[in-house]
Amino acid sequence: MASEPGASLSAGGYTVGRVLISEDDLQARIRALGEEITADYAGRAPLLVGVLKGAFMFMSDLSRAIDLPVEFDFMAVSSYGHSTRSSGVVRIVKDLDIDLADRDVIIVEDIIDSGLTLNYLRRNLLARNPASLAVCALLVRENHRVDEAILRYEGFRVPSDFLVGYGLDVNERFRNLSDIRVVTTDADAANGAGAT
Ligand code: IMP
Ligand code: MG
Repeated sequence: MASEPGASLSAGGYTVGRVLISEDDLQARIRALGEEITADYAGRAPLLVGVLKGAFMFMSDLSRAIDLPVEFDFMAVSSYGHSTRSSGVVRIVKDLDIDLADRDVIIVEDIIDSGLTLNYLRRNLLARNPASLAVCALLVRENHRVDEAILRYEGFRVPSDFLVGYGLDVNERFRNLSDIRVVTTDADAANGAGAT
């Protein structure tokens, strides 16, 4: 597409800057993740659990890259604290509809930052006795130490910049960008941050 509907790139004191991950790179990596999941879960019907709202776009493309009879469910959580930092205190805003007992569950997340949201979700979902529980995250912070038994599938390692696009937002904006971009605040811009 020539112009993107989300490409009104300034809102509420935030400006969207350089592309960190292009649409082509995202789609190629997601196809590869889908092939991995297809091979790992051959003969089974995994239940994809998307974490709203950020994971909706990733879940949509990932599911179409999986050649298995997947099922879908969604959870919405909100973490207390301010908009760009997770406090680790998580509240379930929308719970799952499907019973997890004896299911092969894959949590689909947009980004693992501190990992606190994921820790909470894992503990919560494990208590429902799934047959297996894996995590597929599109983005993981570079400094995040990964337990591969937990985080089985990851798309990209990313630096600590605040990111938007492809489902990720700042104050609910920019989710509809087709790529992942770095956000600067207007205060950063005035100080010359991100100029390189
Ligand atoms: P964690 O609990 O610190 O791992 O936070 C995870 C959640 O914070 C993600 O699911 C996102 O909703 C949000 N988040 C963390 N970093 C970013 C970012 O750079 N852009 C947009 N949302 C983010
Ligand atoms: Mg999220």
